[in-house]
Amino acid sequence: SNESHAYRARILHFVDNPLNAGDQAWQYFEDGILWVENGYIRSVGHAVDQLMTLPTYVSIDNYSDHLIIPGFIDTHIHYPQIEMIGAYGEQLLTWLNNYTFPTESQFGDSAYAARISSVFTDELLRNGTTTALVFGTVHPASVNAFFSEAQQRGLRMIAGKVMMDRNAPEEICDTPETGYHHSKRLIERWHGVDRLQYAITPRFAPTSSYEQLEKIAYLFKQYQGLYMHTHLSENTNEVAWALQLFPEATRYLDIYDNYGLLTPRSVFAHGVHLCDEECRRLAETGSSIAHCPTSNLFLGSGLINLNQLFQHGVSVGLGTDIGGGTSFSMFKTMDEAYKIQQLRGATLDPFQALYMATLGGAKALDLDTRIGSFRLNNEADFVILDLQATPLLKFRTPYCKSLRDLLFVLNTLGDDRVVKRTYSLGRCVHNRDGATHL
Ligand code: GUN
Ligand code: FE
Repeated sequence: SNESHAYRARILHFVDNPLNAGDQAWQYFEDGILWVENGYIRSVGHAVDQLMTLPTYVSIDNYSDHLIIPGFIDTHIHYPQIEMIGAYGEQLLTWLNNYTFPTESQFGDSAYAARISSVFTDELLRNGTTTALVFGTVHPASVNAFFSEAQQRGLRMIAGKVMMDRNAPEEICDTPETGYHHSKRLIERWHGVDRLQYAITPRFAPTSSYEQLEKIAYLFKQYQGLYMHTHLSENTNEVAWALQLFPEATRYLDIYDNYGLLTPRSVFAHGVHLCDEECRRLAETGSSIAHCPTSNLFLGSGLINLNQLFQHGVSVGLGTDIGGGTSFSMFKTMDEAYKIQQLRGATLDPFQALYMATLGGAKALDLDTRIGSFRLNNEADFVILDLQATPLLKFRTPYCKSLRDLLFVLNTLGDDRVVKRTYSLGRCVHNRDGATHL
């Protein structure tokens, strides 16, 4: 399309990690204009400056008392688990066996997978999430359904078929051979098509044999730009089990490291129980952790030491981990992330939290040159947030004395109601108050 549009509002985005750059890490325009052309960012700045340079053919939408930020990035989520969100009161391993595996066994049915993909994608956009790294199930049909849905809506998404060949019910296991061939076929169909990318997705070490990990290592090297997406060190019983299954590994991360699976395109969900040496290896290889606070609390997995990861320079994004996690909202996710650090006697700065939910997530996905901030020529994925969305926010925000206060309050009290509109590549893909412009 050949379209040029500008949005006038408060605008905030990150250009760097606040841990490194302090208050130089973000740009904030109290009265700003974001100019979008043909789906890409043309410029961002103070309205007074922008108004002098904007061509007269550009129309401007005014959103006073709204805040525009880049679309949220969810670095770990399971689309097939939306139908089991919010129940069962178990910890990881029994939760998987009793609820997760039976739920996932339905996704060989393409029509079913298509229906869930549609509901799932609606929910992401309604919450302002424009990119996610997504687990399918073992069935190739699950991934075809999700990518078709994302493609139709023009979204930037990364997904993959689960690979697991042991310690799970037979009907949802593949084999080293079928897992390899099915993944390969999906890569050739989807990887790099439009805005879609493929992630090789072993469920976690305990459900893959040595033979499968060998095939995974081989496949990972065969194509350019693939992702590696799995779980790591979520729960102490899981850690003990993984080390029992792989006696040659000293630490959980070694299992993946031994197969060359640590790269800048490797994303490990959780990492709640990591030692310094594992943090050092993650940082050294440019691998990322997807921190999933609502899941860690709901499944009782533990309280992650974010400062340990930060001190080692590990890249950390935020994930909802639906259905272990309990909310699609990155606001809820930031809120719970903060509370986890409080329980550790640490803290989480609201700027750092929002960084992880946007540019930090993009960096975790090695996409920080395309999304996560309003750099020139970045893809125009952004959200318009309504700072007056709820009675409590309306009451509370006038008492905020600084941008930090405002963000803190938004992170703590915000939810899906705050997301007024969501844009993907410059197109409105969710409108809270009306019909979606598709
Ligand atoms: N570890 C292995 N599989 C899963 C899963 O589906 N969810 C979570 N939270 N952890 C896992
Ligand atoms: Fe998960």
